[in-house]
Amino acid sequence: MTERTLGADVVDLVDVDALRREVQHKYREVVEDPSADFHFHTGRNHALRMGYPSDALDQLSDAACEAFAGVANPFFWGLPQAGERVVDLGSGAGMDSFIAARAVGPGGQVIGIDMTAEMIERAEDLGRGEGLINLEFRQGFIEDLPIESGWADVVISNGVINLCPDKLGVYREIERVLKPGGGMTIADICVEKPVPAGALKDIDLWTG
Ligand SMILES: C[S@@+](CC[C@H](N)C(=O)[O-])C[C@H]1O[C@@H](n2cnc3c(N)ncnc32)[C@H](O)[C@@H]1O
Repeated sequence: MTERTLGADVVDLVDVDALRREVQHKYREVVEDPSADFHFHTGRNHALRMGYPSDALDQLSDAACEAFAGVANPFFWGLPQAGERVVDLGSGAGMDSFIAARAVGPGGQVIGIDMTAEMIERAEDLGRGEGLINLEFRQGFIEDLPIESGWADVVISNGVINLCPDKLGVYREIERVLKPGGGMTIADICVEKPVPAGALKDIDLWTG
């Protein structure tokens, strides 16, 4: 079995539209009340526990951090450099995009991509509040990025590829939008054992 057919097999098992609807429903709830009780943690203290650099978080308002829902720290190996172009996959309420936008400065640019309209609206509002003008958010799927080929120096992502059945499709898109020699830092949930077909089909296990 090739890598390509492995990815396609998972896509064939999962009702991708139903999964996306459920994921959007869940993250709409996060937008409505980021401090509610979820099966994942949210907010600034969660980011600090994940090892985010506190000086980068100190530059952001509480509002800009409160709907953070990532699974680890994509800046573990360092922040993007001044002047770089960054794509944030599944940018959610935008905290990672805000940190990246401050790091790349006025000569750089950040584009956050998310499929949930309410997340895009919240991130846009917060980005304006942070006074960041080198930043934009686009609604779309990370399996089909609304970004031109070879645009990015760096791709970051936090807690999103684990929500996508077609992981190889996502990585093909990352390769397409990166410049030759560009880099990626992905924070994600990984399993080390094959997941049984019955579990793969169960949307509640993907979202819960
Ligand atoms: C766990 S949250 C993480 C958000 C953000 N990265 C953070 O760290 O706070 C997952 C986000 O990914 C988005 N998402 C999930 N699947 C997606 C897909 N296939 N394409 C685009 N966005 C997706 C959801 O709408 C949600 O905002």
